[in-house]
Amino acid sequence: GRGRDLAGRRVVISAGGTREAIDPVRFIGNRSSGLQGYALARTAVARGAEVTLVAANVALPDPAGVTVVPVESALDLRAAVLDAAERADAVVMAAAVADFRPTGRSDSKIKKTSADPEPIHLAKNPDILAELCDRRREGRKPAPEVIAGFAAETDDVLANGRAKLARKGCDLLVVNQVGEGLAFGTPDNAAVILIAEGDAVEVPRGPKEALADVVWDLIAARLV
Ligand code: C5P
Repeated sequence: GRGRDLAGRRVVISAGGTREAIDPVRFIGNRSSGLQGYALARTAVARGAEVTLVAANVALPDPAGVTVVPVESALDLRAAVLDAAERADAVVMAAAVADFRPTGRSDSKIKKTSADPEPIHLAKNPDILAELCDRRREGRKPAPEVIAGFAAETDDVLANGRAKLARKGCDLLVVNQVGEGLAFGTPDNAAVILIAEGDAVEVPRGPKEALADVVWDLIAARLV
């Protein structure tokens, strides 16, 4: 057993998927259920960690013993993660964060008219994972000791994952193989966890808790 090896550690986990408002009733979203992030939260609590779970649009009950901060958009999620990260030893970004948001969200519901619809213009969202890593490298707060991300890839999984880890500057990148009963909305996951120094840990298909425990093993080993 892993015991309470995270006792006294503060961890921040982001989970779910952001919603980027188009108008008061519509949004651009994604298929993330939050199951993997919630599994990370439950396993961290079981190992003794103090857990803040920044939850973007997740329809799951709050895990016992966890501080849940609900958010909607990528900008909300950024603010909540950066705030909680000030006091954190480790941050795990498991949320699916929208890369883009509509500019100039309409204050009233966009009407269907006989004319062609107006295009939706998009602005780039900040990359929160990369920002956390940049801040740490520059010695600016928040500077958590361990920073981990997730990446869903469909092809060239390892090469794309390795490039992404280097680009973002994080310590661990959990690369999901997307498809056939894996990842989105399912209780199971399979992944390769890439480690900054070059190693990779393969986690075979199994419950999201099992993958979460391997992530915490690797994080616990990096915490001094
Ligand atoms: O670049 P990509 O979106 O594939 O990277 C996925 C990882 O980066 C996830 O850990 C996700 O939570 C994080 N991310 C982020 N901010 C964004 C986009 C992704 O923190 N704007």
